[in-house]
Amino acid sequence: MNVLVVGSGGREHALSWKLAQSEKVNDLFIAPGNAGTADVGTNLSIHVNDFEAIKQAVLFHDIKMVVVGPEDPLVNGIRNFFEADDEISHVAVIGPNAMGAKLEGSKEYSKEFMMRHNIPTAKYASFTADNISAGYKFLESLKPPYVLKADGLAAGKGVLILENLSIAKLELEAMLSNAKFGEASKKVVIEEFLTGIELSVFVLTDGKSYKILPEAKDYKRIGEGDIGLNTGGMGAISPVLFAHDGFLDKVEEQVVKPTVDGLNKEGFDYKGFIFIGLMNQDGEPQVVEYNVRMGDPETEAVIPRIKSDLMDLFEGVAEGNLKEKSFEIDSRTASTVVMVSGGYPEAYEKNKEVTGLNNTESLVFHAGTKIDDSKVLTNGGRVFAVTGMAENQEEALKAAYTDVQKIKFDKLNYRTDIGFDLK
Ligand code: AMP
Ligand code: GLY
Repeated sequence: MNVLVVGSGGREHALSWKLAQSEKVNDLFIAPGNAGTADVGTNLSIHVNDFEAIKQAVLFHDIKMVVVGPEDPLVNGIRNFFEADDEISHVAVIGPNAMGAKLEGSKEYSKEFMMRHNIPTAKYASFTADNISAGYKFLESLKPPYVLKADGLAAGKGVLILENLSIAKLELEAMLSNAKFGEASKKVVIEEFLTGIELSVFVLTDGKSYKILPEAKDYKRIGEGDIGLNTGGMGAISPVLFAHDGFLDKVEEQVVKPTVDGLNKEGFDYKGFIFIGLMNQDGEPQVVEYNVRMGDPETEAVIPRIKSDLMDLFEGVAEGNLKEKSFEIDSRTASTVVMVSGGYPEAYEKNKEVTGLNNTESLVFHAGTKIDDSKVLTNGGRVFAVTGMAENQEEALKAAYTDVQKIKFDKLNYRTDIGFDLK
């Protein structure tokens, strides 16, 4: 079968790298892809939200499955677009429809879903400019720190955590009345603050049954010790050992089962990944958020730990027989270190030539790269996700950092402390 992966980051390189190993995949295409995906398939220069151009490519290349990496095309209804068009309705789309994607696209919608299905999550209420004074009252009823979330997608920036009540009120006003995050903050969810350690659990579902993929922990801040600005993610570790003392069993019973059952009962026809952001609060799971896709860079640590044929699992998702598919996980640790352009997550330069890629031994997933005249150039903030695999975290990190030191480009940056809190 010919397959198209939509997206251009490290996540999409990892998914493509894995799919390319399957005997069930004939030609693999990536839109738009990067210099790394060009090694495992054919890049198509199409924007992830240009559904009409994706349709033409699907017809031209006789593609029978589309795997959607990022949330944007999902929230914009790429699966609905395929289902509504007779020429392409036979093509399997791995990723939820717009109704399912709203679980990531609207914080209020996802909190309401959790409430309906009794899924543990922080106490909350949502407000608009019309009832902002009720928002102030709700803030007064909570203890600091205060958690304010723009309801809509805000490129990962829409969550504010504030120590001070009057600042929280000013920020609420900025979000609701002065469009601090544009349309996304026309509605704001205010939440109780959760304490504990965070981790992410990934589920693949055909809408009825599910497979729980390896869990991971990511490192969101730019600075060592997890300080400074938020990024897309500077590293990831899988497995997360502290989750294996019964915590993941609780996650399955209290979160995964009711989530998939709820999606099924409410007629979501959900087919794809669910990424559950969780807080381990004194050994009890609390859901922080749902995402409707895989995480990046978590995918670059999670996918290498899946031994089974990913294409076989995706066929199970598409055909509704995921339950019958075998699913095996590699017990080794995968540790991913992200190399970024200097300055990221603020302004940074692109088009820097990369050297040293040929001497690497671990898995080097490309994120922001492109090929120009057979040279690899930087083309984004996050440039590579380097994954080492070994029997334990220390060895896996050693393998990743050994290769990180071989890869060179002007003004590169990376965190030297990935996994520091899990030792
Ligand atoms: P979200 O976009 O909902 O994942 O929020 C971004 C980050 O803010 C999360 O990964 C957490 O680190 C933090 N966060 C969100 N909600 C809460 C909460 N209720 N309590 C504590 N931290 C939170
Ligand atoms: N690494 C976090 C995310 O993909 O949302």
